[in-house]
Amino acid sequence: MAKSSKTFSCAACGASFNKWSGRCDGCGEWNTIQEEKGISAGPPSKSLGARRGSSLELTDLATEEAPPPRSHSGIAELDRVLGGGLVPASAILVGGDPGIGKSTLLLQAAAHFAKNGIKTIYVSGEEASAQVRMRAQRLGLADAPVKLAAETNLRDILTTLDAERPQLAIIDSIQTMWADNVESAPGSVSQVRAASHELTAFAKRTGTSVILVGHVTKEGQIAGPRVVEHMVDTVLYFEGERGHQFRILRSVKNRFGPADEIGVFEMTGRGLSEVTNPSALFLSERGQPAAGSVVFAGIEGTRPVLVELQALVAPSPHSQARRTVVGWDSGRLAMILAVLEARCGIPFAGLDVYLNVAGGMKISEPAADLAVAAALLSAREDVALPAETVVFGEISLSGALRPASQTENRLKEAQKLGFTSAIAPSGGKAVGTSGITLNTMSDLTGFVGEIFGAG
Ligand code: TYD
Ligand code: MG
Repeated sequence: MAKSSKTFSCAACGASFNKWSGRCDGCGEWNTIQEEKGISAGPPSKSLGARRGSSLELTDLATEEAPPPRSHSGIAELDRVLGGGLVPASAILVGGDPGIGKSTLLLQAAAHFAKNGIKTIYVSGEEASAQVRMRAQRLGLADAPVKLAAETNLRDILTTLDAERPQLAIIDSIQTMWADNVESAPGSVSQVRAASHELTAFAKRTGTSVILVGHVTKEGQIAGPRVVEHMVDTVLYFEGERGHQFRILRSVKNRFGPADEIGVFEMTGRGLSEVTNPSALFLSERGQPAAGSVVFAGIEGTRPVLVELQALVAPSPHSQARRTVVGWDSGRLAMILAVLEARCGIPFAGLDVYLNVAGGMKISEPAADLAVAAALLSAREDVALPAETVVFGEISLSGALRPASQTENRLKEAQKLGFTSAIAPSGGKAVGTSGITLNTMSDLTGFVGEIFGAG
């Protein structure tokens, strides 16, 4: 006998189960398990009486269609992160910590799109219309033809959007939206999921681009079900450190462009202004060459970006030495320390290690390995690296150096900013970069010997 065909799935993480329970074993959320109602065509041969789906029209991959027309805000940093402009019918999620500047960014974006003739509606579920208007005034954008509403009722919002048919709708924020057919409080997993689903479906159905603002949890994820990230076409994170004025808009997923693209902004008294040369900005606080400071020539998305890494190494007063990292991966730091110890015989036991990426930037590229190692050694030995030198390259567990991608672009950017030499793994392709001395090495021991005369 066939088993019961009922299946249940978790609204938060999507895990599926064959029986209902109050708590999801997958993600630990309560009250998220729901019955899945299948719509299969029925068993293949025998009981053909059941209603079947209609057959689909299949097409070829090759097509005559032009790529989707994109609308431009004129804010170059934003347009680039979107993959070259806003695609019609796309759903975009913009996540970030409270107070980081999401509403400011999106109000500016709304105003710019509207001024470029894109019909734009901005729905705020967090602020009253008067507050949004005051902000627009402060940003000098009060004359932009943006239509405004302060509302949280999803049904009313969808009805309005359906009647108005804007080209762009901004929903600030998805956590405040409330669907009256879902019985739980706004901000709950089911509400966020339902609202995102309705709004994404609306975008697909009508061709309106929808931008959803999402708050981020302490763990750095967009609050609410992870399925929301799968539902939308593009996920952008707006990040930055509270104490710094830099803000970075980063695409972590984009169905219409490269992921990992960044746009750099500066928060000023009159809103966010674009930073067209981020390397200059990230290096602006750099003083005289000092021990522990190294300039890393990185690539963010399609663009080279130079950032300063700072390390401090000091004898530890604690029985367990501290490892503190800001802007980089702490697991990766542990790995570099282990490789330095095992392959080059340079121990860090009993020493506190602090590593900081200057300017509030976050780096995830493995090519930063060599720059981190250089900063750590420079701090430990109290020796500054040669002046006007950039460093990049990946370190493998064996202590070998692996060439990084786009060596040439990194060198060009370094040269543009007045650097005269670079330390990199051998084997990287670097044609056409004259004017910068390239010092290549194949392993970490060689690097330590050459730069610090030890090893
Ligand atoms: P906001 O856009 O409200 O953040 P979010 O929507 O992500 O919660 O930004 C709030 C912060 O930005 C607030 O602390 C004040 C600051 N700010 C400026 O520095 N300059 C400005 O022109 C504006 C509008 C805000
Ligand atoms: Mg806000």
